[in-house]
Amino acid sequence: YRNLRVALLGGGSVGAQVARLLLENSEELANRVGASLELVGILVRDLDAERTVDLPRELFTTDAETLILGADVVIELMGGIEPARAHILMAINSGADVVTANKALLATHGPELFAAADQVGAQLKYEAAVAGAIPIVRPLGESLGGDQVNRILGIVNGTTNFILDRMDTEGDTLKEALALATDLGYAEADPTADIGGYDAAQKAAILASLAFHTTVPLASVYREGITAITPAQIESARKAGYVVKLLAICERLVDAETGQEGVSARVYPAMVHRSHPLASVHGANNAVFVEAESAGSLMFYGAGAGGVETASAVLGDLVSLARRHIAGGPGVPASQHADLPVLDIGRIVTRY
Ligand code: NAP
Ligand code: HSE
Repeated sequence: YRNLRVALLGGGSVGAQVARLLLENSEELANRVGASLELVGILVRDLDAERTVDLPRELFTTDAETLILGADVVIELMGGIEPARAHILMAINSGADVVTANKALLATHGPELFAAADQVGAQLKYEAAVAGAIPIVRPLGESLGGDQVNRILGIVNGTTNFILDRMDTEGDTLKEALALATDLGYAEADPTADIGGYDAAQKAAILASLAFHTTVPLASVYREGITAITPAQIESARKAGYVVKLLAICERLVDAETGQEGVSARVYPAMVHRSHPLASVHGANNAVFVEAESAGSLMFYGAGAGGVETASAVLGDLVSLARRHIAGGPGVPASQHADLPVLDIGRIVTRY
């Protein structure tokens, strides 16, 4: 039975929930992967800060190097470019696998980080970087890896969806709704990333790169945010039977002038008819439509932001890495871990 040392970089909205779940569910997770997942420390800036989640104080540290070099798996949930980038490279080069939710970093330095991981045979997983709790990175990269994706149409920023929804249904101003989204832990440390459409553009770059098997640089993603959207515009959209949504659109295209085939990724507020399924995506939820050559249309829907919801995706990556770590050892096959009985309860009449 093995022990995997897990280092957490960041103990904020998402990091604190990952730490809590790791500690609370340690036995179940250990049974699931065939190794205990030992949380060895949590990197933060301020050791004395008040924390909303009650975690053992001795886990908190400001010593990044000691924490990273003593870990088998490093989970980066600090956000931003530096020092997150340097810490991830240190982890990879020390032989650790990495999980991150950092779309800003992946959209700008993804190729560098993946190349570094490839060079040493390390894994870099990032399911939580796009659309919070919704599994979309693995479906696009693996499940649809044998198909041809033609178009992705999605609501991929929970904060802006929450704001637009509150403006539409509660009559909030953008400022009021943003303050609420920030309190609820949906917004980025600098919420300009959300309302300016930068966060959605980062996610669009990641989704397009995955779906089209190419590198779509962030700089080539067309971007408009929601800062110019007024209550009057929302009201006139409503009167016309529409709702305003910030959409990320990634598609294969043929340039009308040159005939050249290529891809496009764009983010902007769009009028969505109230009969369209995207119109009923409320609050901080996200939805991603994928149109693929053979699979047809698929829709992925759920919580796009929030600490505990995003922690679910982070832990999914961790479990996947942990199973790989112990592949040569006494790992428990994914299908056989729980040892739960199958109940004979017959037919239950339920209305769904
Ligand atoms: P957050 O609440 O701002 O937490 C960031 C944490 O990192 C804090 O604990 C902070 O320490 C620590 N930290 C930041 N810079 C540091 C530095 N230079 N040295 C040491 N510690 C540092 O952020 P979050 O909302 O949890 O987001 C974390 C990541 O997940 C980001 O990449 C974000 O884009 C991504 N993400 C967030 C959500 C969401 O709903 N919140 C969803 C999906 C993805 P202190 O506590 O001492 O300040
Ligand atoms: N700030 C981001 C959002 C967090 O609102 O969608 C999830 O990536």
